[in-house]
Amino acid sequence: MSMNILGIETSCDETSGAVLCDGVVRSNIISSQLCHTSFGGVVPELASREHERLMVSIVDAAVTEANIRKNELDLIAATAGPGLIGAVMVGLSFAQGLAYALDIPFMPINHIEAHIFSPFISEGAGEPVPEASFVSLTVSGGHTLLSVVETDLSYTVIGRTLDDAAGEAFDKTGKMLGLPYPAGPVIDQLSREGDPFFHQFPRALTSQSQSSKSREGNFDFSFSGLKTSVLTWLQKQTPGFIELHKADIAASIQAAIVGVLVEKTMAVARSRGVGAVSIAGGVSANSALRQAMKQACDRGGLRLFVPGSTYSTDNAAMIATLASLKLSRGTVAERRYNVAPYASFAAGAKRG
Ligand code: KG4
Ligand code: ZN
Repeated sequence: MSMNILGIETSCDETSGAVLCDGVVRSNIISSQLCHTSFGGVVPELASREHERLMVSIVDAAVTEANIRKNELDLIAATAGPGLIGAVMVGLSFAQGLAYALDIPFMPINHIEAHIFSPFISEGAGEPVPEASFVSLTVSGGHTLLSVVETDLSYTVIGRTLDDAAGEAFDKTGKMLGLPYPAGPVIDQLSREGDPFFHQFPRALTSQSQSSKSREGNFDFSFSGLKTSVLTWLQKQTPGFIELHKADIAASIQAAIVGVLVEKTMAVARSRGVGAVSIAGGVSANSALRQAMKQACDRGGLRLFVPGSTYSTDNAAMIATLASLKLSRGTVAERRYNVAPYASFAAGAKRG
């Protein structure tokens, strides 16, 4: 019997609907909200209103593109947190309302867990979840998480950021350089013409940081020092110098962030003796991170799993895919669920 799942994602500033038929993505509609640009960050109330405005048309488009009718859906899955409470509530309430109207079950999905499994989203052919544990680096605008993932979809958190998330480090330092929000993709683009060795910014809690005590067996991250360092360094430069060397500065910031992410991920892989690594979340779209992680994995004889290009940043295909994986491992869908804005990643996680 075929299984059609509608996924809905509204945790932040992307409104997305996707349909998965028998585990394969048939549509993945994403609308990125532009209304926040002039504010330099996401305005929660505007985000909720925008999700509300677009929800029906996005879901209609996802169902139409998948070439099915709504009454052929078997399950609706939606992000239940973590995220902005109003934004999550719009998608979650809509999803539950539609499931009720169609008399089909509903499954709440943890947004971060959906990112973790996004490298295994299938468009036809694709990688199944590995049959042995692997290390996942999940890096987004709100989270920086290192975990060891098991084949039953459970995972143990080994490290996390103590302050800013990796995406925030990109966005905030980019803002200091006068780049628009979100600055991550812009820094990625600019860096292609820049020199990553132009200036050495600090890499906290790594082998290059000052204190050996703070780094030993420490799989946590800290990016607030980098932010301060970029700010104080920029304050000492003239506007003309900054403008002239914008690409070099961007490349140097990116090198510092990527260097930390790769070093810590490889250290966990070594310490846990796993054979594979995956990267996920918005920052996993970063070309320098993908390249550096690939080189490190090749050197260490490890497999690397990365999401397809549209599945790094927020999307509903990852929500539907995790629902499908959970079903295949015996999770029973629900009829009602409450929003959990601070759900963090506790749902399926064990603390390492
Ligand atoms: O996963 P995501 O879409 O939303 C959250 O769940 O937060 O991640 C958004 C983050 C933003 O901080 C954005 O700047 C960053 O991912 N990002 C990138 C790139 N594309 C998106 N950072 C670096 N390089 C990129 N190419
Ligand atoms: Zn996300």
